[in-house]
This record gives sequence, structure tokens and C-alpha cells, in this order.
Amino acid sequence: MKEIKSTDYSIYFKNDGYSELFKFIKLKNYSKIFIHLDTNTHKLCLKVFLNQVQEFNYHSIISKAGEENKNIESCVKLWNNLSELNGDRKSLIINLGGGVVGDMGGFVASCYKRGIDFVNIPTTLLSMVDASVGGKTGIDLGVLKNQIGIFYDPKIVIIDPLYLETLDESELLSGYAEVFKHSIISSLNTFDNLISKNVSLDFKDLKTIKNSIEIKNNIILIDRKELKERKALNFGHTLGHAIESYFLNTEKKLLHGEAIAIGIILASYISNKTVGFSTEDMNKIKSHLMIFYKKITFTSLEIKGITKLLIHDKKNSHGKINFVLIKEIGRPVYDIEINNELITDSFKYYSI
Ligand code: GLY
Repeated sequence: MKEIKSTDYSIYFKNDGYSELFKFIKLKNYSKIFIHLDTNTHKLCLKVFLNQVQEFNYHSIISKAGEENKNIESCVKLWNNLSELNGDRKSLIINLGGGVVGDMGGFVASCYKRGIDFVNIPTTLLSMVDASVGGKTGIDLGVLKNQIGIFYDPKIVIIDPLYLETLDESELLSGYAEVFKHSIISSLNTFDNLISKNVSLDFKDLKTIKNSIEIKNNIILIDRKELKERKALNFGHTLGHAIESYFLNTEKKLLHGEAIAIGIILASYISNKTVGFSTEDMNKIKSHLMIFYKKITFTSLEIKGITKLLIHDKKNSHGKINFVLIKEIGRPVYDIEINNELITDSFKYYSI
């Protein structure tokens, strides 16, 4: 399968990725190679990776799995690991894991010795179609997601659906929300195609994954630093992130994609009420997502708490809360200010 060219790196698929990686390692003559894993990918994915490649020398550096560990304490631990193992400026980090491993490993690489190279090998559907591409690295600040970070590109990204065999259904669903979001903001064809597949959707289908990465990559090629067009990738994320943050340390904790699926439904409703998004497509989006994601109940206190968190969204400026909305499938609009009443109404639409 042909690679996708991004800003100044490429995204390779399956075996091509491993052979390109080892050509690159030879070319750059790295002094040390660190494989950054979390406790899950150490157990499940390292052996899959090692089976695909020739023998080579590496050190494992391991973070605790889970969004709650995507913080500065985990980074300090990784920087200490690198230092104790004599990592120098010519070291390479290979991130083998989901979004937390990739975002945090990229951030650690960006600051260590003023920046060392890193490679992303995403092992979840979510990180394949989203986090591993586009150079956003970073960590959370308390429950607030991705508040600290920097744009810093990987040298290579390898997409291999073999790793998806290590995931359960809910992890696959978590990634599908982003695949579906990419279709909503990009093209009626892709959207209709996903909707028509309905329950027979294959979340591990490489063609669908590649298509989804291409949609994101095409946007990044126009606006890497998210000054304008890249904001569209945040469709469903303003409320989705706030919902995810609100429930992070509670028993109602949601996977990223579960929160984003709700965020997409809410943003579709708000789009319908403000920028003329059709009622038919709004209902299609809701029905499609509700096939896969369980309905969550929100108390009015929770809705108030979630709305309060919106002020921390990174798209905001000058104290205003900015939404990404959709005029029609494939036509996102951004920097739209919304009032709290409409947000409350959108939760009512989700709940019925
Ligand atoms: N996840 C949205 C972006 O990478 O811009």
C-alpha cells in the first residue's frame, strides 16, 4: 500500500513501514534506540513489533497506561529513564502504543536535550487515525486535556492493523468516532459509505483507516499549526473533551471516542439550530452513532459542570467559547460563538 506524505515525514503501511524504519535508523546512525511503551503495549504489542523486525539493540521505557497518567510526573519519569540510560542528542524514541504513549512520548522527545527524533507506531484505531499524525504532542493538566504541549513532528509513522487484534471492541469503537468525524467534515461519499455499512462496519479495515488518515493529513498539509482549517478536526470535541474531562476521575469515566460520539451529536444539533445543517443529516448522525455507543444520562448539575469546563478549550480566545460546526456534510465552519441555552438544548436532543 502506497505511503502518505505528510509535512516532512511519511506514513507507511504494514511491512513497508518496518523496512523504511530500519533504513532510516541505519541512515541516521542513532546512538541509542528507546522503545516507549505503556504497561499494556509492553505486555501485548512489543512481541508483535519484534516479530516484524530484524534483531536490534534497544532499551524499553515504560509509562503507566491510561489517560490519568498523561501528565508531567510521567514525563519526568521518562526523562530520568533516558538520562539514566545515557540517552544523548542522537537517540531515537519509538512510541509503540495509543494516544497517551504517542502524545507524551512525542512531548518528552521534543524537550529532551532540546529535541530528539521520534517515530510513532500507533497500536489503537484512535491513535492510527488521529493522534499519531499531525505533530500535536503534549500532556494533560489535571483533568484538562492536552493543555501543555508543542507541535513536533515524528520522523516516520507506521500503521499496522496487526496491533488492532490486541484491542477489545470498546477500544475499536473509541477510534471509530474519529473515523466517522473525518467523514462528516470531508465528504458526502465517505459519510454515506460508512452510514450504509451500518452494523456490518469493519473497524479494522485498512482501506477505511487509510482513507481516514488521508482526510486528516490533507487538512494538516494546509494548516499544520491550526490557525484556520485544522480547527475543523475539532468537530464534536469542544463538548466531547469537556464531557471526557468532567467524568475522568469518576465512575462514569468514558473512553475518548465515547465522549466524542456524544460531542458529535451535540454539535450536529447546534449546527442545525445555527448554521442550517439539515435535520435529516443531523438525525442520520445520531441514529448511526447510537447503533454503536451506549446512551449516557446527564443530570442538570453535570451539564452545568461540563459547560463550565468549556472555557478551557484551546480554540477559545478573548474569553469567548468557539465551536466548530457543520453547514452540510463536507462543509465545516469554525470560530462560531454559542450561548449556554443552546448547549443545554443539545443535551435534551441527545437524551430523547
Ligand atoms: N485531533 C485533532 C488534531 O489533530 O488537530
